[in-house]
Amino acid sequence: MLKLLVTGGAGFIGSNFVRFVLERSQDCHVINLDKLTYAGNLENLAGLENDPRHEFIQGDICNESVMRESLQKGVDAVINFAAESHVDRSILHSSEFVQTNIVGTLNLLELCRKNRIRRFIQISTDEVYGSLGSSGAFTEQSTIAPNSPYAASKASADLLVRSYCHTHGFPGIITRCSNNYGPYQFPEKLIPLLISNALSGIPLPIYGDGLNVRDWIHVRDHCAAIETVLHHGKNGEVYNVGARQELPNLEVARRILRALNKDESLITYVEDRPGHDRRYAIDSSKMETQLNWRARISFDAGLQETIQWYRSNTAWIEHVRSGAYMTYYDRMYGRRSQTLSER
Ligand code: NAD
Ligand code: DAU
Repeated sequence: MLKLLVTGGAGFIGSNFVRFVLERSQDCHVINLDKLTYAGNLENLAGLENDPRHEFIQGDICNESVMRESLQKGVDAVINFAAESHVDRSILHSSEFVQTNIVGTLNLLELCRKNRIRRFIQISTDEVYGSLGSSGAFTEQSTIAPNSPYAASKASADLLVRSYCHTHGFPGIITRCSNNYGPYQFPEKLIPLLISNALSGIPLPIYGDGLNVRDWIHVRDHCAAIETVLHHGKNGEVYNVGARQELPNLEVARRILRALNKDESLITYVEDRPGHDRRYAIDSSKMETQLNWRARISFDAGLQETIQWYRSNTAWIEHVRSGAYMTYYDRMYGRRSQTLSER
């Protein structure tokens, strides 16, 4: 039985990963620890409440005693998804990003080292490499040059993981993935925001000239990459993860509107993001040649599926917009979810 501690497993990618591993293996137990910030949504885990292979703990990765207690449950591997993840929020308020993304990761590293955890995966991002010109792609050797406070906090965490591997022989691995899309993504991020606005017939905000380029990967392909790294990755290594599906934001908006049969006049240009990175593109040859992983879902197929998911889950969108998702446990069980220390 493989026992995983997944942090941030009530967020977008974390919840998809929890579902992914439990679907693929009966022989797996997931301890899912999440602080439940605004981005943590227990509705993302609906259906797992009575699955004995899934245990949810409301907790903060910065909290030493909660994390120590969680790690002492016989954990084989830790996968750290927990983070403040939205660039725009990091521009307005950076301190939460430093706290969770850097201090929280350091707390995890130290406790994992002391508890002799055999595998630690840090879920990082291509944003640590900064911005590209019109050609080329980030490799694992690209210079770390973060441009937003979010990216700087993720880069700092990566450097801490690297230092623990180098200094302590710590079994850490870093993955750096490009922009994810798919079900359960909080509609502050581009694709779910555009889909949910288009469904409601309200304007689609496009920053600047709309020609900033992102490299899109379906979240299920990302989950498969993480599972591959979990089983076959080499300690101390960095692995880039991407699907070679670059698109300007404007084109993404147009495809969503076309798929929903809505008019392009809904596109509204708004003020640009300060310091807006122009282009990301990720070279995932290392994952492909060394670990035999590759992305399988084309952007068009993945986008259709994602649009269909948001169309069929209007209650999920409504609960996120109204804030009702924050009381999911109360409504389901008539009580609040407990923190470890309250048990
Ligand atoms: P998200 O914002 O949807 O989820 C983050 C989760 O972490 C939430 O459930 C939140 O409650 C939890 N969390 C926040 N602070 C915490 C703390 N102190 N302790 C415990 N839990 C806490 O983010 P996401 O998009 O799912 O991203 C997950 C990870 O993947 C992040 O580390 C992010 O940097 C990385 N990443 C994201 C993308 C992307 O496109 N979304 C791409 C590459 C890498
Ligand atoms: O590259 C990986 C990163 O992708 C992750 O590390 C981050 O956690 C994740 O949030 C994402 O960062 P981006 O800043 O690229 O994603 P976001 O969805 O916020 O924006 C995507 C692009 O769309 C970006 O060029 C900004 C633009 N945008 C975004 C929003 C929210 C708009 O034009 N309008 C918008 O309303």
